[in-house]
Amino acid sequence: MKIRGHRETVVSFCCPKFAAIFLFLAVFVFIFLLFNMDVLEQYENFFIYLCHINLLTPCQFQHKVITTFPAPRPHLQRRFCSFQPRSPEDALEERLLLDSIAWPETPSLPVPLSLEQTTDPAHSTFTILPEKGGRQWHVGDQLEVMIKTYDFKGRPKKSGGDVLLARLHNRALGAGVAGKVLDHLNGSYSAVFSLLWEGSAQVEVTLVHPSEAVTVLHRLTREQPDRIYFGSVFRSGSVSETTTCNVCLRPTQQPLCNYTDLITGEPWFCYKPKKLSCDARITNYNGGFHKQLKAQEEKLFRSGVNMKVYIRASGSASVTVLPKNKDQPEVKSSIVHSGPVGYYYQGAWQALSGTKVHHFNTSSAISQCLKGKVVHLYGDSTIRQWFEHLNAVLPDLKQFNLHSSVRVGPFMALDYANNILVNFRFHGPPVRSISVPAIELHYIANELDHLVGGTNTIVVFGIWAHFSTFPIELYIRRLQSIRRAVVRLLDRAPGTLVLIRTANPKTMTLDAALTNSDWYSLQRDKVLRAMFKGLNVHLLDVWEMVLAHHLPHNLHPQPPIIKNIIDVVLSYICPQKGS
Ligand SMILES: *[C@@H]1O[C@H](CO)[C@@H](O)[C@H](O)[C@H]1NC(C)=O
Ligand SMILES: *[C@@H]1O[C@H](CO)[C@@H](O)[C@H](O)[C@H]1NC(C)=O
Ligand SMILES: *[C@@H]1O[C@H](CO)[C@@H](O)[C@H](O)[C@H]1NC(C)=O
Repeated sequence: MKIRGHRETVVSFCCPKFAAIFLFLAVFVFIFLLFNMDVLEQYENFFIYLCHINLLTPCQFQHKVITTFPAPRPHLQRRFCSFQPRSPEDALEERLLLDSIAWPETPSLPVPLSLEQTTDPAHSTFTILPEKGGRQWHVGDQLEVMIKTYDFKGRPKKSGGDVLLARLHNRALGAGVAGKVLDHLNGSYSAVFSLLWEGSAQVEVTLVHPSEAVTVLHRLTREQPDRIYFGSVFRSGSVSETTTCNVCLRPTQQPLCNYTDLITGEPWFCYKPKKLSCDARITNYNGGFHKQLKAQEEKLFRSGVNMKVYIRASGSASVTVLPKNKDQPEVKSSIVHSGPVGYYYQGAWQALSGTKVHHFNTSSAISQCLKGKVVHLYGDSTIRQWFEHLNAVLPDLKQFNLHSSVRVGPFMALDYANNILVNFRFHGPPVRSISVPAIELHYIANELDHLVGGTNTIVVFGIWAHFSTFPIELYIRRLQSIRRAVVRLLDRAPGTLVLIRTANPKTMTLDAALTNSDWYSLQRDKVLRAMFKGLNVHLLDVWEMVLAHHLPHNLHPQPPIIKNIIDVVLSYICPQKGS
């Protein structure tokens, strides 16, 4: 039994002839509640606490919270969170995307779990090829590195699926570039780098997760897509109730409020409050994180042991790169390497594809570029950071006090003299945030459908970090609806500039891994890139820009990285003549 759409009861008050219908509905609901009292009773202990937390630092209330989960029916547990594609075309695309990001099969875990047979970064090594050395390297060549993984007993690993990141850098030169890692599925991996500067270049290889940890991350998404859960306060007059909300709720006898967006079809549900109607929903907040690992599994997520740990070189970790040699052919690696989109040199990002990057070092250079423009920023806190950055560097850009949440917004800032307007709005649910008015959570696709667009309009969006715990089909579906809106926008206003922020690697702790591991981000990032290929939009490759930089991975990259990203953004808005 489900109580449907919160919109349906709205008609009741519009005119007297509906009064009878309303009365009838009220009696019906009363009788329904009376009959279901025993069922509702079971779920009485809904939690009421508002977690004043930052994005992705879920509250640590696991013990309390377990009692708020209505007991799942075991046979429904597996597939209770699935999403119907909107059309056969969407379904086909979804299947192709899932195939394209398929991760190598990872080992099942021994019971009881011991680390012995799992990947040990301390035993694993990398070697610059050719192993004998003696090669001269020039700018323009490609450097190939062989990574060999071993377990904690020092035995070679025979299967792939480890999560590895690689970077080439020279700290003194402020130089860095991301490498590409290839899994040979036999325990060895290759990393390939483009050599882009003269002088020393040092290889850095990081084990993000052993393949066995991926087994756990995979299972969590399948079995516990609701491990991050949300809540809403419902209120009417002096009556107030709190229930659990999510994109999928475990099937129980309890009726639901269905807040599925009627335009985009994006799902969202809350358990129906006992006394109040679905219309009485006031807030949305991050309820917390329901952590439920099997015995010993947390051992697979130890910082400094097997999570985000450097792998050492078996020989030298660096090469000396000589100037470009015009007479000699460039050394290419044996691996097809599409190449990085850019690299750092003296701390400044140099683009190898996309627009040439200019440096907007002064506030007047930035406001000259943005003069007469409207910038719409949509997404999560990693986009909000850009709004904050622009406000910090542009003294004439004044933020209005909209009395909105400092974390979720919406925000608006205006430079009246230069006619610059910058807006920020969070993406629609799921939003892991402090308590905010539910009515403020708008879907990006719907927002884009309300833009006129044009050459003075810049649209920037970034949506990834709040989707990690859900089946990737939810993310695909979300991007499909955003992409449809982007296509409509570019059709009616082809001059609109659309920029899309990619994900980025972050600091990893056990809880961070289970709720927002780089592995989850990596998979979603591949989907994002594939889905916007071929459209007249530009990707802001923050993944590479964070990976290539010497500063530690951070969900919210530090100011020197943000400055470089904003330079790329402004370079798209104001491409300089002759570039
Ligand atoms: C693994 O596969 C790669 C690529 O085929 C090969 O070069 C390497 O020698 C193999 N390693 C082992 C340990 O078999
Ligand atoms: C929720 O509402 C949507 C849109 O009206 C509908 O398609 C969907 O079937 C409903 N879901 C449930 C579980 O009632
Ligand atoms: C901006 O700063 C960068 C880094 O400090 C410097 O390399 C560049 O020359 C400066 N550009 C301009 C236009 O001032």
